[in-house]
Amino acid sequence: MDLKVEFETHFGMAHTRWATHGIPNAVNSHPQRSDKGNEFVVIHNGIITNYKDLRKFLESKGYEFESETDTETIAKLIKYVFDNRETEDITFSTLVERVIQQLEGAFALVFKSIRYPGEAVATRRGSPLLIGVRSKYKLSTEQVPILYRTRTIENVKNICKTRMKRLDSSTCLHAVGDKAVEFFFASDASAIIEHTNRVIFLEDDDIAAVADGKLSIHRIQRSASDDPSRAIQTLQMELQQIMKGNFSAFMQKEIFEQPESVFNTMRGRVNFESNTVLLGGLKDHLKEIRRCRRLIVIGCGTSYHAAVATRQVLEELTELPVMVELASDFLDRNTPVFRDDVCFFISQSGETADTLLALRYCKDRRALTVGVTNTVGSSISRETDCGVHINAGPEIGVASTKVEGTACSPSGRAWAGGPEARVPGYPPSSGVDAAGSRSVHGLELIKEVLSLDEQIHDLALELYTQRSLLVMGRGYNYATCLEGALKIKEITYMHSEGILAGELKHGPLALIDKQMPVIMVIMKDPCFAKCQNALQQVTARQGRPIVLCSQDDTESSKFAYRAISLPRTVDCLQGVLSVIPLQLLSFHLAVLRGYDVDFPRNLAKSVTVE
Ligand code: G6P
Repeated sequence: MDLKVEFETHFGMAHTRWATHGIPNAVNSHPQRSDKGNEFVVIHNGIITNYKDLRKFLESKGYEFESETDTETIAKLIKYVFDNRETEDITFSTLVERVIQQLEGAFALVFKSIRYPGEAVATRRGSPLLIGVRSKYKLSTEQVPILYRTRTIENVKNICKTRMKRLDSSTCLHAVGDKAVEFFFASDASAIIEHTNRVIFLEDDDIAAVADGKLSIHRIQRSASDDPSRAIQTLQMELQQIMKGNFSAFMQKEIFEQPESVFNTMRGRVNFESNTVLLGGLKDHLKEIRRCRRLIVIGCGTSYHAAVATRQVLEELTELPVMVELASDFLDRNTPVFRDDVCFFISQSGETADTLLALRYCKDRRALTVGVTNTVGSSISRETDCGVHINAGPEIGVASTKVEGTACSPSGRAWAGGPEARVPGYPPSSGVDAAGSRSVHGLELIKEVLSLDEQIHDLALELYTQRSLLVMGRGYNYATCLEGALKIKEITYMHSEGILAGELKHGPLALIDKQMPVIMVIMKDPCFAKCQNALQQVTARQGRPIVLCSQDDTESSKFAYRAISLPRTVDCLQGVLSVIPLQLLSFHLAVLRGYDVDFPRNLAKSVTVE
């Protein structure tokens, strides 16, 4: 969801809405307004959890609601605060300050009002918000100082006046000599990158006001740990990175970008001569990480699967207990967390509300927190003690592909072992000698798997009318199955389940018959014999397994209804390769079923609501 505002002498406001309250229709869409005269209008990304109480209060004061949204309470509330102002010269940002003190939940907001022509005010808490800055001219500053205020109501009049005075050139961002400057408010950098790569990331409860082409940033109170200014940062993102190029969908482009994204994440980190990985972002916390008693890896959706994919190597390298957690469940259980735990948070966007809340929960309990995200400047990357940037480049398709692949790649996996892990060639049980050296050439192997695209398209032609698809495997490839099944349900809307092959006889076997398509991931790893067993059980019930197997595996293909052969690498990295056919399959199935691959129904790229 993106909020976008553009002004100097012009102002524009747009919003793509993911419905949290009320069906998607005109009256529920944003901006929401304070009244029929549009005195105050607001766009919102997030969710207001106390909106019912606010709505009841405002209705009791005579404010009439027209939509079913939580956001409308914000528009009505600012009008209420304005209608009950104690002084005529109250500023727009003071109104917003008072409004957000009443709000609970998560929000990024942009306000506009006919009462304050030439002004706009934006703020955030829990939901991301950044400001893009573009000007051909020199800017007054690269560091916007924060303006603080104390909030005694009795002082309001004086404060309003002082604030007006304080908003001179030294406290605002503007172009020198009153030249033109443009500001863009957005939830995500990809929404504005075609206009500018210079951005300011706002912190929770910052209030950014633009008046007469000048930007000022306000906060109610100053606390000791606050940074007293917000710097303009330059993003490395290129416009071309968020264009489709020759591909028909972003998701397809992103699947095919995996050789580069894996390379980019390894660049400067993997030393192929010594077979070591150095993660600069973790090195200052090495001592604490080594001292810890337990590792907890937390994420949602695809990022959770990246955590599952990493668990085994993490256990083998560290010999520590490792918990892998879905953020929402972790919070529901009030999971015990201790000071000597190290908690990892995996998130492509770095903004997923459940993951962010889990992070704050762990911080409150003084655990060391480590972010593994793909978004510089995101809330998770800023709020964790240290972290690893995945560096896979922007991902536009809602269904994540390259970021998951990259998070599981050699340096992605190395975060598992600490900053100086020896990864390729580990663990020794994993067929290292021959295959270990091949992992160095992993990029070639990824390309080899991508070249199976046509074969997978043919498979999709056979399967696209099915209602259900099971994906089964075990060991290192269990995560591949979970992720493959998620991709299939996310974009094809077919029922799909990732099944641990070891659990086959404890339930899923009841689903097997000659109608039910079953994809089995069987690699030449320590689980090979057990997977053969599962294969036999499936064929014994007249199932027709589609097997993803190693190129040198003649055994599995004998029993397979169809076999897709994959190159082999070290066991702990095999998932990086074996997930690709499932990503491609879900893509082709969705296209054949006539769905929009990049924007699946009911889903959003960054879920910034709980
Ligand atoms: C949303 C997306 C999923 C994604 C999940 C976690 O639900 O639709 O594809 O896996 O969020 O996102 P994150 O940005 O935290 O990796």
